[in-house]
Amino acid sequence: MEESQHRIESHINALSAFTSTPEKGVTRLTYSKEDLQARNYIKEKMKEYGLTVSEDGLGNIFGKLEGSLKGGPSVLIGSHFDSVPNGGAYDGTAGVVAGLEVAALFSENHLKPKYPLEVIAMVEEEGSRFGGGLMGSRGIIGSLSADDFKNLKDKDGISTEEAMSKIGLDSSLAKERKPNTIKAFLEMHIEQGPILEEKNIPIGVVEAIVGLAQLEVTIEGRAGHAGTTPMDRRSDALVAAAKIIAQLPDLAIDEGEGAVITTGRLEVFPNGANVIPDKVVFSVDIRSGKEENVRNMIQKTIELIQSHSENGIRTSVEELLFIQPKELNTDIRSLLKQESSRLEIPYCSINSGAGHDAMIFSDVTNVGMIFVPSKEGLSHCPEEWSDARHLAEGVQILFEAAKHLTEVE
Ligand code: GLV
Ligand code: MN
Ligand code: MN
Repeated sequence: MEESQHRIESHINALSAFTSTPEKGVTRLTYSKEDLQARNYIKEKMKEYGLTVSEDGLGNIFGKLEGSLKGGPSVLIGSHFDSVPNGGAYDGTAGVVAGLEVAALFSENHLKPKYPLEVIAMVEEEGSRFGGGLMGSRGIIGSLSADDFKNLKDKDGISTEEAMSKIGLDSSLAKERKPNTIKAFLEMHIEQGPILEEKNIPIGVVEAIVGLAQLEVTIEGRAGHAGTTPMDRRSDALVAAAKIIAQLPDLAIDEGEGAVITTGRLEVFPNGANVIPDKVVFSVDIRSGKEENVRNMIQKTIELIQSHSENGIRTSVEELLFIQPKELNTDIRSLLKQESSRLEIPYCSINSGAGHDAMIFSDVTNVGMIFVPSKEGLSHCPEEWSDARHLAEGVQILFEAAKHLTEVE
């Protein structure tokens, strides 16, 4: 396991260097220069481990080890390689690296699977460039249509297709994949919360993933001079937005049952110190383990926003994403627990408060997911850190599960 741990550490270190914010965490936006650098590294390693590399029309990367059963469905293993702005070196990347390492172990042990093993590295799970999130996996299963994909633009108005062609990717390649080409999907991820570290347990077997919604709210008012416009003649979009945002936490608290709500992105126009803002666009991220709670909060958020449409303020809300809570496959959960026990690696069951590509794949195939501890529960920040020993233990479990699911001969 030492060699495996060493390889994992070196992949994490290498990939963390592909950031547009050196010294300030990992910022690797989809189809950016850093995406291309990470992409080239991942493809190189896939080839080194004997995989046949391809990309799809969304920019997702696949490394395939053929199975003896011609045309058999693949066991996919991987995660995403984009990041949030000023994020950490592990979110997503740890799961891609786990996939690479499982392939390295297959290669080292000269294993011949019956069903293909495919390492997958996905784009835009975070939605940091094109909004919404989970874009790579939604495109694969077809819940994001080719037209919807084409129409997505970043904050500078650059479309997905333009951005892809800038780094030499071909958006005309196939995007959607038939469900009958996938036998199972496995993902390792850092926990991004404090539970495993507090319990001193290296592995969490994920039972369920929260439901989530992403809204984009636009508040429009009227611009004017900050010095000459009397206070009673203003339609200040930022003041209206601030009043709304300040009331959002109470919606989640009133909902209870662990529901959460967050505004993490806010853009002010024209963004001048002495200009009354005429437009504000902000995000609202809503999550709960129960679909009913998510739906209630969406409704209450919309009502709250509409109640501020007065005195020259206009409001609108767009739902960018809605995903129901997902329970993961019981057979794969049992398999992961059984392999952890056999390897004498302690584990516990856990639920995920973060969204993951795994929840998208669970609509079309059997999905299993494991977590490893996050130091101080921190994630989506430069301090994000997980112990490579835990990552290597997670890989051992995935390796055994992948051998089982691909029916190694
Ligand atoms: C991804 O990190 C998410 O949970 O939004
Ligand atoms: Mn994330
Ligand atoms: Mn992630």
